[in-house]
Amino acid sequence: MTRRGIVLAGGTGSRLWPITLGLSKQLLPIYDKPMIYYPLSVLMLAGMREIAVITTPEDRAQFERTLGDGAQWGLQLTFIEQPSPDGLAQAYLLAERFLDGAPSAMVLGDNIFYGANLSRMLAGIPAEGGTVFGYHVADPERYGVLGFDEGGRVTQIVEKPENPPSSYAVTGLYFLDGTAPERARHVRPSARGELEITTLLESYLADGTLRVERMGRGFAWLDTGTHASLLDAGNFVRTLEARQGLQSGSPDEIAFQRGWIDAAGLRKRAEMFGKTEYGRYLARLL
Ligand code: TTP
Repeated sequence: MTRRGIVLAGGTGSRLWPITLGLSKQLLPIYDKPMIYYPLSVLMLAGMREIAVITTPEDRAQFERTLGDGAQWGLQLTFIEQPSPDGLAQAYLLAERFLDGAPSAMVLGDNIFYGANLSRMLAGIPAEGGTVFGYHVADPERYGVLGFDEGGRVTQIVEKPENPPSSYAVTGLYFLDGTAPERARHVRPSARGELEITTLLESYLADGTLRVERMGRGFAWLDTGTHASLLDAGNFVRTLEARQGLQSGSPDEIAFQRGWIDAAGLRKRAEMFGKTEYGRYLARLL
């Protein structure tokens, strides 16, 4: 079965208040594009064309207005509401019907990945079991952290540990097989009342079917959940784009390169955004 994608873009965004009192975090700008373009691009780079976007009921209409039905990128987008932010693992319950038994890749709507050969790395992920990505961070105690045995095999995942077993955090990108929704049903709410993704991943770990891919220092993994990290991510993208003259996180470019849209489709988008550098960039691709 073809792998299906999920972008988890609900949540409260309370660390970004007052900005996110009336606006979803995942629609805020990362320099020249809405935040959600970047995680969506990651799923597209991994080859997925059937993608569910999970949002709050309040924000759904704005996401639909921003993304449409996905046809402009040769995608089929489905919108699913998460009534309240009850945790990342809940996404698999909400998306069960959409997934229909297929393996999936879920990306958090506020995570940005950048690095050479990302698509090749993601294309090689096996359909069976679960795969997560470990990234070396300065402040592991803020994340789910991986523990390894002497052979480098993952032995534990600890959520926000006081004494982290390593400096490798679990990034917000999860490749899970078709059993994820069934496993999610067995996840009980944590002390903070959320269905934790860590608990779901532990179920794969217990079965010996959890793989960890390390994203080396050649990758950038940014999260954008605070005012400072939001600005940093915007500056990062601006620096890259200004230096390279290439876009990062452009669903239009990826769709065109993959042949999911033709030149006429791209031209339409280029004309629509003609006044912006983004529009001129799309025109140059033609
Ligand atoms: P978080 O950053 O953990 O939470 P948040 O976005 O609500 O922000 P804050 O902590 O400032 O209140 O969420 C990570 C990503 O997952 C983010 O893109 C929002 C999304 N999310 C959901 O869609 N549903 C949920 O139930 C949770 C907890 C998060």
